[in-house]
Amino acid sequence: MSSMERYIRLEKLGEGTYATVYKGKNRNDGSIVALKEIHLDNEEGAPSTAIREISLMKELRHPNIVRLHDVIHTEKTLTLVFEYMDQDLKKYMDSLGTGGMIQPHMAKWFMYQLLKGIAFCHDNRVLHRDLKPQNLLINSKGELKLGDFGLARAFGIPVNTFSNEVVTLWYRAPDVLLGSRNYSTSIDIWSAGCIMAEMYSGKPLFPGKTNEDQLYKIFKLLGTPTDEIWPRVSELPEYKPNWPIYQGQVLSSKIPNMDWMGYDLLSKMLVYEPTRRISAKDALNHVYFHDFLQAQYGQPVASPQFLAAGMPTPMMTPAMMQGMPAMPVQGMPPVGVPVNLAGVQAVGPNGAVLTANNMGMPGMGGVGGVNGLGGMGGNYLS
Ligand SMILES: Nc1ncnc2c1ncn2[C@@H]1O[C@H](COP(=O)(O)OP(=O)(O)O)[C@@H](O)[C@H]1O
Ligand SMILES: [Mg+2]
Repeated sequence: MSSMERYIRLEKLGEGTYATVYKGKNRNDGSIVALKEIHLDNEEGAPSTAIREISLMKELRHPNIVRLHDVIHTEKTLTLVFEYMDQDLKKYMDSLGTGGMIQPHMAKWFMYQLLKGIAFCHDNRVLHRDLKPQNLLINSKGELKLGDFGLARAFGIPVNTFSNEVVTLWYRAPDVLLGSRNYSTSIDIWSAGCIMAEMYSGKPLFPGKTNEDQLYKIFKLLGTPTDEIWPRVSELPEYKPNWPIYQGQVLSSKIPNMDWMGYDLLSKMLVYEPTRRISAKDALNHVYFHDFLQAQYGQPVASPQFLAAGMPTPMMTPAMMQGMPAMPVQGMPPVGVPVNLAGVQAVGPNGAVLTANNMGMPGMGGVGGVNGLGGMGGNYLS
């Protein structure tokens, strides 16, 4: 394993639940990295399960997942060397001066990347489990990457000794809140839905203070679940027959500025029954994202009549994908959209000015899972 002396520790970037993150500089080549120092308080050092899981993470390579370059294990600390990102999504939203709201086109672009990263994880049997704006990292190219991965499980319940950050319930799926233990990829989709709403409205969708308060906030918007709308919910450990009855509200009451396609996708991500919640792959093919494809390829993938009729979401078929040019890794927002990240340059990957013709379609290596390693079921990392 490489030595810690290779890196110069610079300023602190963030303090999470069980680790401190510093900016770092590689002495050899001057490159900037993020050093995540995990303090090991038990005598044996890092648990071997943690090491194993971290090793697996090193193999999890995708443009929308923060790259883990290296793991440095010393007696008292475990340092993970990550690709450096400019900030996290939470800080970015707070810095906008818009009350946290992100422009709709930018929110869509971030959602696209978020779902790409999630789809890749799920294809590789990895659950994130802790998706929230603080754990999504962005850079000046407008790229969004999933960070803070898998470790929550590897290290057990976060002990929170290093910071005042409270482990948040806000993005937690209702099945998890109700004590379900056989949860799966759908828990990440729930979180992604909450993040989508937050980007549009500037406010967390369900900012619960306790487990119960969290559930009631969800019920108020989506209606108190019954066995009719969520089969067998009454069998879950934390189910209470005396819950207050809420009828639910329309999503637009909380999130005013979405188009109908956005509401449609969001409503499919915030489905109570985990098995009926939309998958990341299907979400990426949702009509909400089709204007990206139109912008890039100049032709609608669904006919205007089809869209006007409000038909169920058309899916991109493999045939439709044929002949589409390969998508660049460093995607940019859709055509004609001013980039609004602080310090962002509206130039392409090689410094070329982006035009309608050369701007990359957001995304990498094809729409809808190209990384399938087979089905789901069992054996999720983290
Ligand atoms: N690769 C990175 N580049 C830049 N900042 C980072 C990076 N990784 C983490 N950070 C910052 O540090 C914070 C805590 O990191 P995180 O990995 O989420 O640790 P924790 O598990 O302790 O929450 C993040 O919210 C982010 O602000
Ligand atoms: Mg974190």
